[in-house]
Amino acid sequence: MMKNKTTILLIAALVFLTLGIRYGIKAYNLKTAPPQVQHSNEDVKLGGPFTLVDDTGKTVTEKDYSGSYMLVYFGYTFCPDVCPTGLTNIGTAMDMLSADQQAQVKPLFITVDPERDTVEAMGAYMQSFHSSITGLSGSREQVNVAIKAYKVYAAKVQDEASDDYAMDHSAYIFMMGPDGKYINHFTHKTTPDEMAKALKAVL
Ligand code: NI
Repeated sequence: MMKNKTTILLIAALVFLTLGIRYGIKAYNLKTAPPQVQHSNEDVKLGGPFTLVDDTGKTVTEKDYSGSYMLVYFGYTFCPDVCPTGLTNIGTAMDMLSADQQAQVKPLFITVDPERDTVEAMGAYMQSFHSSITGLSGSREQVNVAIKAYKVYAAKVQDEASDDYAMDHSAYIFMMGPDGKYINHFTHKTTPDEMAKALKAVL
Protein backbone atom coordinates (compact mmCIF):
# COMPACT_ATOMS: atom_id res chain seq x y z
CA MET A 1 0.00 0.00 0.00
CA MET A 2 2.71 2.41 1.03
CA LYS A 3 4.76 1.49 -2.05
CA ASN A 4 1.83 2.17 -4.42
CA LYS A 5 1.23 5.58 -2.92
CA THR A 6 4.89 6.46 -3.40
CA THR A 7 4.74 5.31 -7.03
CA ILE A 8 1.64 7.42 -7.71
CA LEU A 9 3.26 10.41 -6.06
CA LEU A 10 6.42 9.91 -8.10
CA ILE A 11 4.45 9.66 -11.36
CA ALA A 12 2.45 12.76 -10.45
CA ALA A 13 5.62 14.66 -9.69
CA LEU A 14 7.16 13.53 -12.99
CA VAL A 15 4.09 14.60 -15.00
CA PHE A 16 4.04 17.92 -13.20
CA LEU A 17 7.72 18.45 -13.87
CA THR A 18 7.44 17.55 -17.59
CA LEU A 19 4.50 19.89 -18.11
CA GLY A 20 6.32 22.59 -16.19
CA ILE A 21 9.44 22.30 -18.31
CA ARG A 22 7.39 22.25 -21.52
CA TYR A 23 5.44 25.32 -20.48
CA GLY A 24 8.65 26.99 -19.43
CA ILE A 25 10.25 26.38 -22.82
CA LYS A 26 7.15 27.65 -24.58
CA ALA A 27 7.12 30.83 -22.50
CA TYR A 28 10.84 31.27 -23.11
CA ASN A 29 10.41 30.89 -26.87
CA LEU A 30 7.61 33.43 -26.89
CA LYS A 31 9.79 35.90 -25.03
CA THR A 32 12.85 35.45 -27.23
CA ALA A 33 11.11 35.08 -30.61
CA PRO A 34 12.71 37.52 -33.08
CA PRO A 35 10.60 40.55 -33.97
CA GLN A 36 8.63 40.14 -37.18
CA VAL A 37 10.22 41.77 -40.16
CA GLN A 38 7.04 41.95 -42.19
CA HIS A 39 4.34 43.90 -40.44
CA SER A 40 0.71 43.44 -41.21
CA ASN A 41 -0.98 46.74 -41.96
CA GLU A 42 -2.89 46.29 -38.71
CA ASP A 43 0.04 46.95 -36.36
CA VAL A 44 1.62 49.95 -38.01
CA LYS A 45 -0.28 53.20 -37.97
CA LEU A 46 1.49 55.17 -40.66
CA GLY A 47 0.39 57.45 -43.45
CA GLY A 48 -2.78 59.44 -43.72
CA PRO A 49 -4.19 62.59 -45.26
CA PHE A 50 -1.93 65.19 -46.89
CA THR A 51 -2.28 68.12 -49.25
CA LEU A 52 0.81 68.82 -51.36
CA VAL A 53 1.77 70.29 -54.74
CA ASP A 54 3.09 67.98 -57.45
CA ASP A 55 6.01 68.77 -59.76
CA THR A 56 3.66 70.21 -62.41
CA GLY A 57 2.14 72.67 -59.94
CA LYS A 58 -1.09 70.75 -59.32
CA THR A 59 -2.40 70.50 -55.76
CA VAL A 60 -2.88 66.87 -54.80
CA THR A 61 -4.08 64.90 -51.78
CA GLU A 62 -3.68 61.25 -50.76
CA LYS A 63 -7.08 60.66 -52.42
CA ASP A 64 -5.50 61.28 -55.84
CA TYR A 65 -3.50 58.08 -55.32
CA SER A 66 -6.07 55.91 -53.57
CA GLY A 67 -6.59 52.65 -55.42
CA SER A 68 -2.86 52.51 -56.25
CA TYR A 69 -0.02 51.03 -54.28
CA MET A 70 2.21 53.91 -53.22
CA LEU A 71 5.95 53.98 -52.68
CA VAL A 72 6.38 57.00 -50.42
CA TYR A 73 9.90 58.34 -50.10
CA PHE A 74 10.91 61.49 -48.21
CA GLY A 75 14.07 63.39 -49.10
CA TYR A 76 15.31 66.54 -50.80
CA THR A 77 16.90 67.50 -54.09
CA PHE A 78 20.18 68.75 -52.56
CA CYS A 79 20.74 65.33 -50.97
CA PRO A 80 24.22 64.26 -52.07
CA ASP A 81 23.91 60.52 -51.94
CA VAL A 82 21.09 58.68 -50.19
CA CYS A 83 18.09 60.18 -51.98
CA PRO A 84 19.43 59.74 -55.54
CA THR A 85 20.30 56.11 -54.71
CA GLY A 86 16.81 55.41 -53.36
CA LEU A 87 15.15 57.10 -56.34
CA THR A 88 17.32 55.25 -58.85
CA ASN A 89 16.52 51.94 -57.15
CA ILE A 90 12.79 52.69 -57.20
CA GLY A 91 13.05 53.39 -60.94
CA THR A 92 14.97 50.17 -61.61
CA ALA A 93 12.43 48.20 -59.56
CA MET A 94 9.58 49.79 -61.54
CA ASP A 95 11.24 48.67 -64.79
CA MET A 96 11.25 45.09 -63.45
CA LEU A 97 7.43 45.14 -63.32
CA SER A 98 5.12 44.46 -66.24
CA ALA A 99 3.27 47.45 -67.72
CA ASP A 100 0.12 46.19 -66.00
CA GLN A 101 1.88 46.04 -62.63
CA GLN A 102 3.55 49.43 -63.13
CA ALA A 103 0.14 50.99 -63.66
CA GLN A 104 -0.84 49.90 -60.14
CA VAL A 105 2.16 51.50 -58.40
CA LYS A 106 2.64 55.21 -57.75
CA PRO A 107 6.07 56.23 -56.43
CA LEU A 108 6.08 59.60 -54.63
CA PHE A 109 9.11 61.63 -53.60
CA ILE A 110 8.09 64.11 -50.90
CA THR A 111 10.56 66.86 -50.07
CA VAL A 112 11.51 67.62 -46.47
CA ASP A 113 13.07 70.89 -47.73
CA PRO A 114 10.23 72.85 -49.39
CA GLU A 115 12.08 76.17 -48.90
CA ARG A 116 14.57 75.16 -51.62
CA ASP A 117 12.52 72.44 -53.35
CA THR A 118 9.99 74.61 -55.14
CA VAL A 119 7.65 73.13 -57.76
CA GLU A 120 10.17 74.17 -60.45
CA ALA A 121 13.14 72.65 -58.60
CA MET A 122 11.25 69.40 -58.08
CA GLY A 123 10.18 69.33 -61.74
CA ALA A 124 13.77 69.72 -62.91
CA TYR A 125 15.13 67.20 -60.40
CA MET A 126 12.62 64.48 -61.24
CA GLN A 127 13.78 64.53 -64.88
CA SER A 128 16.82 62.53 -63.73
CA PHE A 129 14.68 59.65 -62.49
CA HIS A 130 12.01 57.20 -63.64
CA SER A 131 9.04 58.97 -65.23
CA SER A 132 6.63 57.16 -62.89
CA ILE A 133 7.99 59.01 -59.84
CA THR A 134 6.17 62.21 -58.91
CA GLY A 135 7.92 64.85 -56.81
CA LEU A 136 5.77 66.53 -54.16
CA SER A 137 6.42 69.83 -52.44
CA GLY A 138 4.21 72.48 -50.86
CA SER A 139 4.26 74.98 -48.05
CA ARG A 140 6.27 74.20 -44.92
CA GLU A 141 2.98 73.55 -43.10
CA GLN A 142 1.73 71.16 -45.78
CA VAL A 143 5.02 69.27 -45.82
CA ASN A 144 5.05 69.04 -42.02
CA VAL A 145 1.64 67.34 -42.06
CA ALA A 146 3.01 64.65 -44.38
CA ILE A 147 6.23 64.29 -42.36
CA LYS A 148 4.20 63.79 -39.21
CA ALA A 149 1.78 61.32 -40.82
CA TYR A 150 4.68 59.12 -41.95
CA LYS A 151 6.63 59.59 -38.69
CA VAL A 152 9.65 60.77 -40.66
CA TYR A 153 12.61 62.43 -38.98
CA ALA A 154 13.91 65.54 -40.75
CA ALA A 155 16.13 68.30 -39.38
CA LYS A 156 18.19 71.14 -40.82
CA VAL A 157 21.96 70.86 -40.37
CA GLN A 158 23.71 74.20 -40.91
CA ASP A 159 26.96 74.14 -42.85
CA GLU A 160 29.50 76.05 -40.75
CA ALA A 161 31.58 77.21 -43.72
CA SER A 162 28.73 78.72 -45.73
CA ASP A 163 25.08 79.74 -45.69
CA ASP A 164 24.19 76.32 -47.04
CA TYR A 165 22.51 73.62 -45.07
CA ALA A 166 21.87 69.92 -45.37
CA MET A 167 18.83 67.98 -44.22
CA ASP A 168 19.34 65.08 -41.88
CA HIS A 169 16.44 62.77 -42.59
CA SER A 170 15.19 59.21 -42.29
CA ALA A 171 15.19 57.50 -45.67
CA TYR A 172 12.58 54.78 -45.61
CA ILE A 173 10.62 53.92 -48.72
CA PHE A 174 7.14 53.13 -47.46
CA MET A 175 5.01 50.69 -49.41
CA MET A 176 1.36 51.59 -48.90
CA GLY A 177 -1.67 49.63 -50.03
CA PRO A 178 -4.49 50.83 -52.30
CA ASP A 179 -6.43 51.50 -49.08
CA GLY A 180 -3.65 53.86 -47.94
CA LYS A 181 -2.48 51.50 -45.22
CA TYR A 182 1.13 50.60 -44.52
CA ILE A 183 2.30 47.25 -45.90
CA ASN A 184 6.08 47.22 -45.78
CA HIS A 185 9.12 49.44 -46.05
CA PHE A 186 12.47 49.50 -47.76
CA THR A 187 15.62 51.58 -47.40
CA HIS A 188 17.96 53.01 -50.03
CA LYS A 189 20.03 49.86 -49.42
CA THR A 190 17.20 47.58 -50.54
CA THR A 191 18.14 46.25 -53.99
CA PRO A 192 15.77 46.95 -56.90
CA ASP A 193 15.37 43.18 -57.22
CA GLU A 194 14.15 42.86 -53.62
CA MET A 195 11.85 45.82 -54.07
CA ALA A 196 10.36 44.43 -57.28
CA LYS A 197 9.89 41.04 -55.60
CA ALA A 198 7.99 42.59 -52.68
CA LEU A 199 5.79 44.55 -55.10
CA LYS A 200 5.08 41.53 -57.30
CA ALA A 201 4.05 39.59 -54.18
CA VAL A 202 1.10 41.93 -53.61
CA LEU A 203 0.23 43.01 -57.15
NI1 NI B 1 18.41 62.29 -48.70
